[in-house]
Amino acid sequence: MTDLFEKISKNRGPLGMHAKESHGYFTFPKLEGEISNRMVFRGKEKLVWSLNNYLGLANHPEVRKADAEAAKQYGLALPMGARMMSGESDNHIRLEKELAAFEHKEDAILLNYGYQGMVSAIDCLVDRHDIIVYDSESHACIIDGVRLHMGKRFVYPHNDIANLEKQLERATKLAQETGGAILVITEGVFGMSGDQGKLKEIVALKKKFHFRLFVDDAHGFGTMGKTGAGTGEEQGVQDGIDIYFGTFAKSMALIGGFIASDAQIVEYLKYNMRSQIFAKSLPMPLVIGALKRLELLKSQPELKNNLWKVVNALQNGLKSAGFEIGNTQSPVTPVYLNGSIPEATKLIYDLRENFDVFCSMVVYPVVPKGIILLRLIPTAVHTLDDVNYTIDSFSKIKNKLMSGEYRAERIVDVNHS
Ligand SMILES: Cc1ncc(COP(=O)(O)O)c(C=O)c1O
Repeated sequence: MTDLFEKISKNRGPLGMHAKESHGYFTFPKLEGEISNRMVFRGKEKLVWSLNNYLGLANHPEVRKADAEAAKQYGLALPMGARMMSGESDNHIRLEKELAAFEHKEDAILLNYGYQGMVSAIDCLVDRHDIIVYDSESHACIIDGVRLHMGKRFVYPHNDIANLEKQLERATKLAQETGGAILVITEGVFGMSGDQGKLKEIVALKKKFHFRLFVDDAHGFGTMGKTGAGTGEEQGVQDGIDIYFGTFAKSMALIGGFIASDAQIVEYLKYNMRSQIFAKSLPMPLVIGALKRLELLKSQPELKNNLWKVVNALQNGLKSAGFEIGNTQSPVTPVYLNGSIPEATKLIYDLRENFDVFCSMVVYPVVPKGIILLRLIPTAVHTLDDVNYTIDSFSKIKNKLMSGEYRAERIVDVNHS
């Protein structure tokens, strides 16, 4: 037998094991000042590529005004309970109706957080007789929702439609025995690699198999499709998505999320989803702030157009400069390099301190050993000068990496060097 705290002190987790050296720099960095393409990191301005602010709404004057006025009028306390008990409001209902109309669905339900809502929705929709089939590269909120499932689950390799078909054959046989139903879960845009879920091919499989499709479109909502309605609209299969999930945390630069679906499914979620029944509802300023953002998202298509101008310049520029950016089909821009974790920390340190470019770094265990993933999130408030400067800086650090300049035994210790 061991003491729990003693056990944790010996195994701090794959990222936590580097906390002493990396805290405040590689992990938990503080970005300060006005939210824009440039923010202050450790007292110095940096060109920033890691903000969830695709459309640049975070600091839009109309958004700031609406947020401030709502906070002044309502404070942060209201509503005073869960929706079902005492937390209902006309604004919550109006936002749900507007989101549903925007997504071409009958109704919608608000979620306090995307992650928690997604976990809870999966838990709520299926019982032990049902079978979940899901993509292997799904976001943690899908994986954790599937973990709560008491019945069978089958995973298919990322976007492998032939394998999905095999899993659906297995699931169909099993469902015939249990009398259960099949739920397929995937993403619209995969947040690390930027590639789209093959929604069109998955929807086409409905001709052969009986299942319902649940799509997490956290990165597609507001960025993809003609009107910004998401990846279903982009691929012309919005009707084939039975349950559509979006978060407010990316394009809307807010907190919260929603699920849009048939009216009876939304009603079922409202009466059965534990994360919403047993938790306080979204504060009023967030709801009013979301209404304003949705209005701008719909009425100012130039925000999405600006975003895509930056995305196209960045992705085409990186490719022309010889960078490996995988198969992204969305604003998410991964840059893949080869190197160890200590090399990655030296490279990022150089990029931040000497080039004043701030982006996120992803290493093992999120990506395979030996891969360094630099993840860039373009926004509508970046400029083409930002793009050119960044590609130039990246070319310089890549040359240094390849010539062995960053070779090191240990990760950069920003707190004790
Ligand atoms: C694919 C995906 N799903 C869900 C979420 C969770 O959303 P939220 O930040 O609103 O909890 C995220 C955000 O990180 C995401 O990228």
